Formats: sequence, C-alpha cells, structure tokens
Amino acid sequence: GRTWDKVESLSKDLSEQKVLVRARIHTTRGKGKSAFLVLRQRTATVQAVLFADDQTVSKGMVKYATQIPKESIVDVEGVVKVPQQPIEGCSQKDVELQVTAIHAVSRAAALPFELVDASRSEEEVRAAAERGEILPTVGQDLRLDNRFLDLRTPANQAIFRVQSAVCQPQLFKDTLLVEGFQEIHTPKLIAGASEGGAAVFRLDYMGTPACLAQSPQLYKQMAICADFDRVFEIGPVFRAELSYTHRHLCEFMGLDFEMAIFEHYFEVLDVIEKLFGAIFEGLSTKYAKELEFIAHQYPFEVPTFKPLRLTFPEGISLLQQGGYPDVDPFGDLNTELERTLGRIVKDKYGTDFFILHRYPSAVRPFYTMPCADDPAYSNSYDVFIRGEEIISGAQRIHDPDLLVERATACGIPLDTIQSYIDSFKLGAPPHGGAGVGLERVAMLYCGLNNIRKTSMFPRDPKRLTP
Ligand code: 4AD
Repeated sequence: GRTWDKVESLSKDLSEQKVLVRARIHTTRGKGKSAFLVLRQRTATVQAVLFADDQTVSKGMVKYATQIPKESIVDVEGVVKVPQQPIEGCSQKDVELQVTAIHAVSRAAALPFELVDASRSEEEVRAAAERGEILPTVGQDLRLDNRFLDLRTPANQAIFRVQSAVCQPQLFKDTLLVEGFQEIHTPKLIAGASEGGAAVFRLDYMGTPACLAQSPQLYKQMAICADFDRVFEIGPVFRAELSYTHRHLCEFMGLDFEMAIFEHYFEVLDVIEKLFGAIFEGLSTKYAKELEFIAHQYPFEVPTFKPLRLTFPEGISLLQQGGYPDVDPFGDLNTELERTLGRIVKDKYGTDFFILHRYPSAVRPFYTMPCADDPAYSNSYDVFIRGEEIISGAQRIHDPDLLVERATACGIPLDTIQSYIDSFKLGAPPHGGAGVGLERVAMLYCGLNNIRKTSMFPRDPKRLTP
C-alpha cells in the first residue's frame, strides 16, 4: 500500500517531498490557470495549489479541481512547498501543497449550511453587526438535523475529544483503577424503575412489562453485596424526561461508581474530589489546544477547582444571606437557586467546583441513607460545576427492613425490586457511590449553554433522529 500523510504533519521539514493525503475540500478558489484549495482533515487545514503548466497539470485538471464541491473527499498527491508568506487561516501556515494529481473519492451534495457559518462565534456576529454587517449563523435545530455535517466544525471536533478524555483511560478510568475499582457492565433491560417511577421508558420484554434502566443504581449495589467491593460503570442511562431544558436528555452517558465504606460517606467524597482534581488538571494541561478551539467559537474561562464541601443547611444560609431569605430549608434547589449558590461560592471561596452534602431526606431517592443524628437529613450529596449539578450520590440503605419501609413510603412497587431487596438479606456492607452525567461535565467544564452541544446525537422529548 501507499503511505498516506496527515495534514497535521505537513511542515517545513517535508519541503520538496512528495506526499499523498485524503482530505475534504474545505474551500475552493479558481483564478485563470490556477486553483487554490484548502484541504481539511478534522481540525487541520492546508492550502493546495494547482498551476496549469501543460506538463503535469493541464487546464482541464485545474477546472476539474475547482468544480469539486465543498466537503467532498479527495485524494491529493503533491509536493510540499514553503510559501513566501504564511498562509493565514490555515492551521499549516508554513507550507502549501503543489498538487500533481487530484481525484474526487466521494462528492458532497448541496450543503444544508456552510461550515464557516456554523463555526462562527456569537462575538464575531455581534462585532460584525456593530459594523452594520449581517453574518449568517446556523440555528440549533438545523445543526442537529444535519449533525453529521455540524460535527465537522473545529469546536465540535474539540468538544468530543474533551468529552472522550473525561471518561477514557487517562482521567476517570485511571483514577478509579488506581483507587482499586473494577469496571462492570450491568443490564439496561430491567424489570422496574431504578430511580422512581415517572421518568421511565416502558417496554415489552417477551410479554412481561419492563423498563430501560434509569441508572445502574440497583445493580451496582448488588455487585457490592456480591463482594466486588469497589465498582464503576460507564454506560447509557435512559430517562423519559418530559422537561425540555438546556440540561436534560432522554439518553445520556452515566459514569457511575459504588464502594463499600467503613465509617463515613466522606470516604466517597474523597474519591469524587480525587477524580475531579484529576479531570480538571488533565483537561487544562493535556487538552489546552482543544479548549482553545472551543473557546474560539464559544468563549469561556477554564473553571477553577478547589476541594470544597458545604452542608445543605450551610448552602441554604448562604442563599438566605445572598438575597433569597424565603428559600425552603427542606426543599430541593431549582436551577436558579443552584446557579446563584454557584456564584456566591465562586466569590467567597474562589472555586467553580463544590460538593453540597446532607440533603433533606424528602428530596432524595428511596434508597438513600438517613443521617443517624437526624433522619430529616440524609447522607447524600450533589456536586456542582459553575452552579449546576454534575453528580448526585449517597450512602445507601443496606438494611433490608428499612429499605422496604422507605420504598413503600415512596410508592415503589416492591415486586419490581424484590431481588434488589433480597440482596441485602444475606449480609451487605455499608456502601455509597455516585452517578456522574458525562454530557453535563463536558457542558459545564466548557461553559456551554446547552447539553445538546455535548451529546453527539442528542435524544430529547422532540428528537429521535438522526
Ligand atoms: O441525579 P441522578 O438521577 O442520580 C442517579 O442516577 C443516582 N443513581 C446516582 C447515584 O449514584 N446515587 O443522575 C446522576 C447524574 C446527575 O447529577 C446529572 O449529571 C446526570 O446524571 N443526569 C442527566 N444528564 C442529562 N440528562 C438528564 N436527563 C439527566 N439526569 C441526570
């Protein structure tokens, strides 16, 4: 086979060498006997030039090249040249390709929108408007309808590299493996709701009513009862959420972990802080280039990380002092209150990341362990970035009688969770864990305004395709 070069590797070092690349036509410009193309591979771009000299390049070939539609895939053979001036606008500024052969491998049909329009930042549009110029932009629905094109923008390429970095070996996985966790896979077809009855996709399982798992919650706990000690899972989570918001999806990636604990649920919080310390550190050092691509289109400041734990009542009193005197000390926090608390914490403690623990029992799932000193509160926690929830978790009830009592009080049909309850009857260690929403982490780390931006093919109440 022939050797295929990468656009991102084209540099002065290859000057006068023959190379072969497969890339997309990013832009085309024809001028008489010459053609200037910009070739693109993911986020790397290089200028390719053709001059009709009647020897290697004919006029017909120049014409052929200029007529290949944008976004088509081409094979290009050429010689690396060092231009007199850097090629502005290309990532490979210091070189250009003098094309000796070009062949369209796959032609693109008419585009639903231009990638330059889809890559434009709001700031750029605003600045142009102030000069009286109206720049075309692309709305979210049109983008999502044509996600396979939209995903080609540099910001989108970078968002999904960042997102994959969060759970791939380097960060989430490695940290947990070092801490002695084992990866497991639990079923997504299950008999009953695992997080409460409402937001569940129901289906028919060989004639028996069943659900798509709302979380690996019950199964990761049964793994603990089966002596796995410390487990984690990265897998899809299904929620029939009817809320059409900036932060809810009907299917998302859950990073879940669960562990036996000895004395206190703070042992879980220690793991959460280690994990997010590693994630924040890893992203800002190893993914600086991706963050730059994202910030170019969606300007944001890299968030700050300091370990910080506040109790729910402490959070409530910060809110009361911060302009919400009537906030319910036993109610859940809505989006506005959470964001406000995030701003207060940022001002006071200088961190975009914090843990809020000891939530009121009334607002937590049935399996949550009440506090020993006051059952109105629970050994539970949420974790926030920029004042929005990315994690929720708790110490779980491991006493089967108390579990039955709580499930009944919460209206969960016992027959659908019988094997879960039974798993605690044969000896179960105290344990706790957490569930992280991957799309939320990527969205909030990058300061994006909508979770659909960090889901490759988002599922929401109105979207099932593409
Ligand atoms: O708060 P949730 O529902 O908690 C659980 O699933 C528990 N089993 C976790 C545990 O271990 N106790 O979901 C956990 C996280 C949330 O903090 C949020 O980041 C994300 O999952 N999440 C969603 N992400 C996108 N769309 C939705 N509809 C989400 N619902 C929750």
